[in-house]
Amino acid sequence: MNSPVMQGLNLNTPAYVKNAKLIAWVAEMAALCKPANIYWCDGSQEEYDRLCAELVAAGTFKKLNPAKRANSYLACSDPSDVARVEDRTYICSAQKENAGPTNNWMEPAQMRATLNPLFDGCMAGRTMYVVPFSMGPLGSHISHIGIELTDSAYVAVNQKIMTRMGKAVFDVLGTQGEFVPCMHTVGAPLAAGQKDTTSWPCNPTTKYIVHFPETREIWSYGSGYGGNALLGKKCFALRIASNMGKEQGWLAEHMLILGVTNPQGKKYHIAAAFPSACGKTNFSMLVPPKAFEGWSVTTIGDDIAWVKPHTDGKMVAINPEAGYFGVAPGTNMKTNPNCMLSLHKDVIFTNVALTDDGDVWWEGMEKDTGKLPDHLIDWQGKDWTPQIAKETGAKAAHPNARFTVAAANNPALDPAWDDAAGVPIDAFMFGGRRSTTVPLVTEARSWTEGVYMAATMGSETTAAAFGAQGVVRRDPFAMLPFCGYNMSDYFQHWLDTGEKAQVQAQAAGHKLPAMYCVNWFRKGEDGSFVWPGYGDNMRVLKWMIDRLEGNATGEETMFGVAPTYAEITWTGLDFSAEQFKAVTSIDKAAWQAEFKLHDEHFAQLAFHLPKALLDTKAALEARLAA
Ligand code: OXD
Ligand code: MN
Repeated sequence: MNSPVMQGLNLNTPAYVKNAKLIAWVAEMAALCKPANIYWCDGSQEEYDRLCAELVAAGTFKKLNPAKRANSYLACSDPSDVARVEDRTYICSAQKENAGPTNNWMEPAQMRATLNPLFDGCMAGRTMYVVPFSMGPLGSHISHIGIELTDSAYVAVNQKIMTRMGKAVFDVLGTQGEFVPCMHTVGAPLAAGQKDTTSWPCNPTTKYIVHFPETREIWSYGSGYGGNALLGKKCFALRIASNMGKEQGWLAEHMLILGVTNPQGKKYHIAAAFPSACGKTNFSMLVPPKAFEGWSVTTIGDDIAWVKPHTDGKMVAINPEAGYFGVAPGTNMKTNPNCMLSLHKDVIFTNVALTDDGDVWWEGMEKDTGKLPDHLIDWQGKDWTPQIAKETGAKAAHPNARFTVAAANNPALDPAWDDAAGVPIDAFMFGGRRSTTVPLVTEARSWTEGVYMAATMGSETTAAAFGAQGVVRRDPFAMLPFCGYNMSDYFQHWLDTGEKAQVQAQAAGHKLPAMYCVNWFRKGEDGSFVWPGYGDNMRVLKWMIDRLEGNATGEETMFGVAPTYAEITWTGLDFSAEQFKAVTSIDKAAWQAEFKLHDEHFAQLAFHLPKALLDTKAALEARLAA
């Protein structure tokens, strides 16, 4: 038998690990990956500090000046490994149609035959870290456990911040508990006696991010970056969890969750889906303008929501994560003050620039200081000066540079963020980045109309993400890269969930969450944004709450109920009726063209596309024509 113990490798299983299935799986994976040794993470601070020190010694981390950023580090990745790799991401369901047209698919046996030789010996010369984590509060009935096996200490320390990671997970797991097995390797084995020649080992040519929904397994090869490697996030909490949700009657969503409390102390909870690079973290930490004295916004989550309908029709949500893996460039005291205040200590920065006094810097920070730094070391280790930037266009930080920080650092953290019972959702918001066509805000007239708005939402690509600039990429529910099964079945799941909850809510005497479509990004004729955004999005939030409370009648438009100019609180903002029109108008010709694009989108999703969406489209077109 080819057991690792027989090869002289000790599993090092701690006595407190009692789950036979887990131990057998670790043994099997160790036999396959052939690491030099195995280390079980306990999640302690001592362990975190030690692993960070080892990463400093290996050159992966630079310790930042403690007077500037206490207990914080900077990692710079290989230039080939800077973002999620959607074209290398697979949903390997048994049947191709269950992955659907929006996912890459390979027949599971063929994928296993592809992965097996890659994983064979992939951890040679490295340590295999066993990383136990809970998505959601430890022990909550809403939470689920994952175990990530990784040969990256960078992943292990990031997982401590991003999840509830450590020994206590094994107590919850007990002898019989279930876990999602998450295999991760950077795909850079070392020959006997060989040392790393790079501080960011990865496989520059071969990457696979693979999900087997039926067996709920994740296999990730070749990348050490973000969602490719921190497998609790997109792989588990969205792609695998969306499959769990479909089977079990709940929703795993790419949504922030925020609490908004009015001066009378009444609190509402909003879950909002925006595609990547549309400011989710900023919105989840919004600071209301001065005119909104007495209002507060608090963060429950910035990226992912698990929404579980109760038998009384209420939709209750948790944030399964414990930290934020946010985009640094563009973040400053104007765009997101609470975020900036979160980043003073205990942070891992990846691919930002290093200042001469041992601090970090990224594009956008000059808005706070009024000037660019004279000199930096950029994310690729090269000298950067304003002159070099001017001449070459070189960015000091990579546009997808990140910070990893615990939710606990956020000054606007909601007291219920960790509540195992979750928070009741009053409204869902769906928004994309559209310079034309889609109005600032409209409320869906029904659950089905809301599902239509979400199913057809799109976002103009930015240079940082997905190549060409300004092309509308349809991103239904902001789940295009994250839905772990056929997108049309996912639409149906939303419709079914709403229909069931509607009956239950009616019986219990309350309403389903309202649904809003928003767009902060309309541009004027001069090409600049008309809506100020950021903290001023509070004005839109307030109107939604007025609607929930029955204090705003709004006006019917083709695409739902919109605010009148008079219904928005304008105190402290000079925004004319003309400008309001520029962000709210519904242009007939633009919408005729838009509906043609919806046709193309629906044609691509024709298999199992719910008829209710086609009926809704016909009704909207009839309104437009009227
Ligand atoms: C993210 C993303 O990193 O959506 O959250 O890409
Ligand atoms: Mn995201």
